[in-house]
Amino acid sequence: MTLLVEAVSKQYSNNVLALNELSFHVVAGESVGIVGESGSGKSTLAKLLVGIEYYNKGVITFDGMPIVPKKRINQKKFRKNVQMVFQDAVSALNPKLPIWKSLLEPLDNYKEFTPSFLDGENLTRKEIAAQLLEMVGLEKEMANRLPGELSGGQKQRVSIARAISMEPKLLICDEPTASLDASIQVQILDLLKELQQKSNMTILFISHDIRAVAYLCERLMVLKNGVKVDEFKLVDIYHEDRHEYTKALIQAAAID
Ligand SMILES: Nc1ncnc2c1ncn2[C@@H]1O[C@H](COP(=O)(O)OP(=O)(O)OP(=O)(O)O)[C@@H](O)[C@H]1O
Ligand SMILES: [Mg+2]
Repeated sequence: MTLLVEAVSKQYSNNVLALNELSFHVVAGESVGIVGESGSGKSTLAKLLVGIEYYNKGVITFDGMPIVPKKRINQKKFRKNVQMVFQDAVSALNPKLPIWKSLLEPLDNYKEFTPSFLDGENLTRKEIAAQLLEMVGLEKEMANRLPGELSGGQKQRVSIARAISMEPKLLICDEPTASLDASIQVQILDLLKELQQKSNMTILFISHDIRAVAYLCERLMVLKNGVKVDEFKLVDIYHEDRHEYTKALIQAAAID
């Protein structure tokens, strides 16, 4: 797995330059964090990476294949390999569907694909859903509930279960813990860590919270007004060479 972003710029129709000549790469098995304040272009980047928004300049490739925005060519294979978890788990789940049906949606869309956790097993649909729930630390009794009957943290676990059902090479998380209590945030970060270690999945974790990013990721990038102002390994987070803005983020997080 290699994700390459080369000099990518994104200007919205209202002339907002959300990303300005952004370049970075991510290789297999890494956990990379992108941190930046509100409006710095984080969600814009996530949308470009999954091909749901156009970019104006530069190129993005996944395993050497250009990500062509909103084109169906190769989209299916690509979308299987690149899964996304959004901030708002509520809107990601259909309120009228019991959890087990939502859980199976991705697998239903990729009938030719059998994830390794189902290999050789002849499970009913509900049993598959139960297995997915177990993988994210939820009781299988949750399967019959509606999204409205779950807590925020539980819903986010369901979203993660859906995403990992595809055994993606790359999991992009856009503020997956932003709406959760601090203790639940840590649980979700621990879950992501555990899943990553089990599967060697690559994680691109996007957040305004440098503490969350530093907890999960071994490499961090700092985005400010659509520009990458800093990039470093976690071990160098307190290094004097850090960008002033990074230092300010660290300081603000410590005071909080
Ligand atoms: N669809 C859109 N049309 C026009 N401008 C947009 C659109 N989406 C985002 N923007 C603008 O692009 C900039 C980057 O927005 P983006 O959502 O990427 O920021 P973000 O870093 O995800 O912020 P937050 O932390 O609040 O989620 C902002 O100035 C925003 O107003
Ligand atoms: Mg955002």
